[in-house]
Amino acid sequence: MEITVAKTAGFCFGVNRAVDLAFECARSSPKVCTLGPIIHNPQLVAQLEAQGVRAVDDLSDVPDDAVVIIRSHGVTRQIYDEIAARKLSCVDATCPFVAKIHRIVQEKSAAGSTILIAGDREHPEVQGIFGHCTGPVYFFKTADELLQICYNTPNICEKSCCMVAQTTFHTQEWENCVESAKKVCTNLEIFDTICIATVKRQEEARELAQKSDLMIVVGGRTSSNTAKLFQICREFTRSILVERAQELYDYNFAQVAKVGVTAGASTPACIIKEVRNTMSEILKNQEEEASFEELLDQ
Ligand code: F3S
Repeated sequence: MEITVAKTAGFCFGVNRAVDLAFECARSSPKVCTLGPIIHNPQLVAQLEAQGVRAVDDLSDVPDDAVVIIRSHGVTRQIYDEIAARKLSCVDATCPFVAKIHRIVQEKSAAGSTILIAGDREHPEVQGIFGHCTGPVYFFKTADELLQICYNTPNICEKSCCMVAQTTFHTQEWENCVESAKKVCTNLEIFDTICIATVKRQEEARELAQKSDLMIVVGGRTSSNTAKLFQICREFTRSILVERAQELYDYNFAQVAKVGVTAGASTPACIIKEVRNTMSEILKNQEEEASFEELLDQ
């Protein structure tokens, strides 16, 4: 039996920075609120809450004397304006890679371009990007959806367009979208805004999945980058998605010898370690039971 943990599994630079800033704020300010949970990990959110950091859904829930933290996903222009209008003390933990997309769409929208966003329209990061656009915007998740937009929207392909991607967008699907867009749009600027941490994580997951009998993807069920890793792994081998190590006991691992482990960008290292150790214990017990049964058969 062999268990390989992907080197890229776990916190990315942007999440690490946001989590550090939240703990730092907890130490220095008595009232701290994050706009939405800082990461898709209930254990870490609970840990922060125990230190006085409350996750709120809406800016109106933030008291006037509290520090408000913007998480790595970023927020709309309107939220920045509201924070400024209320003179709230703010710690901006927007990932610099996301902030770069805000600048691109803001500049290109202002110059009259239509913005094409590859990503999940409901995701907070995409909502934030949308909130920095000032002109027409279209969303799509696949090359087919992009082509539908192009065919169904009169003259869109001749107008000036700017295409960006959610930072955690599926890299292969992005390539398909770029290829299709180039065929139909005559005045298009393409910005590959998928973050390098995502690219490396997806590449490593793909390679590991090809060599494994089973892939364990560790991460929140509401985390979009974890969902994409799971989707990639499933293309190559049997894969399961777990939030906690305990969930591994629900599965049957007969015939499994090579296990790969990867994790979403908001999965703490301690949970990845717990999953690795539990899996190792399960496989060891399985081996011992098998040899015991062999002995009984003799
Ligand atoms: Fe930033 Fe990339 Fe992480 S965009 S939050 S470093 S996945």
